Amino acid sequence: MPSIEWKPESASSVTLQKQIEGHIRGKILNGEWPIGTKIPSQRALAKSLGVNRSTVSAALAELAADGLTDGRSGAGTMVVNNTWSILAAAPPPDWRHYVTSGAQEPNLTTIQDINRAEFHPGVIRLGTGELSPDLLPSSAIRDLFRQIPERPLRLGYEEGKGSAFLREQVSNHVKTLGIHASPASILIVSGALQALQLIAIGLLQQNSTILLEKPSYLYSVPVFQSAGMRLIGLSMDADGVQVPFIEKFKRQHNAAMLYTIPTFHNPTGTCMTKERRTEFMDVCTATRLPVVEDDVYRDLWLDAPPPPPLKSTDGKGIVLYLGSMSKTLSPGLRIGWIIGPEPVIERLADIKMQTDYGASSLSQWAVAEFLAGGLYHKHVENVRSELRIRRALMLQALSVSMGDIATWNTPGGGFYVWLRLHRPLSMKKLFDRCLSEGILINPGNIYDRSTDQHLRLSYAHAPANAIAAAIERLSVECRRGP
Ligand SMILES: Cc1ncc(COP(=O)(O)O)c(C=O)c1O
Repeated sequence: MPSIEWKPESASSVTLQKQIEGHIRGKILNGEWPIGTKIPSQRALAKSLGVNRSTVSAALAELAADGLTDGRSGAGTMVVNNTWSILAAAPPPDWRHYVTSGAQEPNLTTIQDINRAEFHPGVIRLGTGELSPDLLPSSAIRDLFRQIPERPLRLGYEEGKGSAFLREQVSNHVKTLGIHASPASILIVSGALQALQLIAIGLLQQNSTILLEKPSYLYSVPVFQSAGMRLIGLSMDADGVQVPFIEKFKRQHNAAMLYTIPTFHNPTGTCMTKERRTEFMDVCTATRLPVVEDDVYRDLWLDAPPPPPLKSTDGKGIVLYLGSMSKTLSPGLRIGWIIGPEPVIERLADIKMQTDYGASSLSQWAVAEFLAGGLYHKHVENVRSELRIRRALMLQALSVSMGDIATWNTPGGGFYVWLRLHRPLSMKKLFDRCLSEGILINPGNIYDRSTDQHLRLSYAHAPANAIAAAIERLSVECRRGP
C-alpha cells in the first residue's frame, strides 16, 4: 500500500477536497499508483492528511465517479483505471505481479509499519535500536568536515576492500579488543547488515541451514531466507547460547554456519560469559562449524567491559567477525566491517564491488578520521554515560508501572530490555494501540515468531524525559488485555 508524504494546504483557495482529489488523480495518471494499487483506508488517509474523514470520502467519490478507482470489492479502494488503460491499446505492465515476484522476501508487515512510523512527527520510539539524535556526534562530525580543505580528500571509488586508511584504523581499533587482523583481512561494508547479505550470497549454498540464538535480530531481517536458507534457533540462558545444542543441531541439520550476537545480544541484552565463550569456541572448532560473530554492541558496555570477542581466541580462522559504527557513532554513515580469512574477504569484496562499488568514500573518510584522532573513544565514553542514565530511568519506570505484569532483564550494555509479560497478548493489537497513543514499540515476535509475551524495549532513542510517561502508557495498554 502506498504511503502519502504530502499534506494539503489549509491556506489555499482550492478546497481541501479538491486538493486531495487532485493529488491522488496525479498519482494515478502519471503512473506512480498503477492499476491494482490499494489506496489507504479513508481513516488512515484522513489521519495522515490531517483532514476530516468526510473530506477524504468526498474526494474518493469523485475519483470513483470518473472510473479511476473502485471500492466495491470489499477489499478496500483500488486503482482500476488510468489514462494509459483508457487511451492505449496495450495496457501497462502489471507491476503488482512484478513486485511479488522478486527473489528478496518482503519485510514482515510489522517491520514495514515500524520503518514508516519511525518518521511520524512526535512519536516516542520505545523499541528503536538506534541512538537518539542528541547522542550522535553531529558537531564533531561537522568540525571534521570543516577541516577538509587542509586534508587530502578522496572522492573517487575506493579499493575493493575499502579505503586503506580506514582499514588501518579498524585494524588498530580491534587490536585493543585482542583481535590481530591486518588490513588485508578486513572488508569495509555499508553496515553490518550488508555483511550478512554478502555472507548469505557469497559463501553459502541455497538450502543451507544457519544456526542462531532464539530470539535473534537475524529473525527480523529476511537476509538468509531470501537466499533460500533455513534458520534453526538455539535456546539461550543467562550465560548466552546453550552450547550442548550446537553439536546436536549441527549434526541433525547439517548446519553450514552459526550466527551469534554474544555481546549485549539483540534483543535479550545477554552477554555471553567468558567460560561460555570458551565452551562455545571448543565445540565450533571441534565440529568445524564456521561462526559469524556479530559484535556491533561491544563498545556500549555500561557496567564492566565484556569478555574478549570470540574472534580474539580464534586460532583456526573459523570466525567471521562483524563490527559497525551504527550503534555508537552514526547509523546514517553506513560503515561496518567484516574480519576473516583473506580468501573469504577477497570473495566478499568481489561481490561488494559487484553490488555497489564500495561504501561511500566520504563516510569512510569521516570514520577513519574519527578513529585516528581519538575522537571515537571520547565520544563512546560520553554515549555510555548517557545510556547509563537512560537505562536507569527505564528500569525505574518499569518497576513503578509494570512490576506486577511483567519481568525483565537488567542489561549490562547495549540498548535493550527484553520484557516478558506475565500474560500473552495480541502483539498486533498492542502495537496498533500504542501507536495510536504516539508510542512505537518493537513486539517480541519480530525476533522469535513463537512468542506473544515479549517486547523489545530500548532506552537508546526516546528522550530521557519521555521514558517514564511512555512506559506508564505502555503499561495501561498492556492491561487492556488481549
Ligand atoms: C545485531 C545487529 N547486527 C547488525 C545490525 C545492522 O547494523 P548496521 O546498521 O551496521 O547495518 C543491527 C542493527 O540493528 C543489529 O542489532
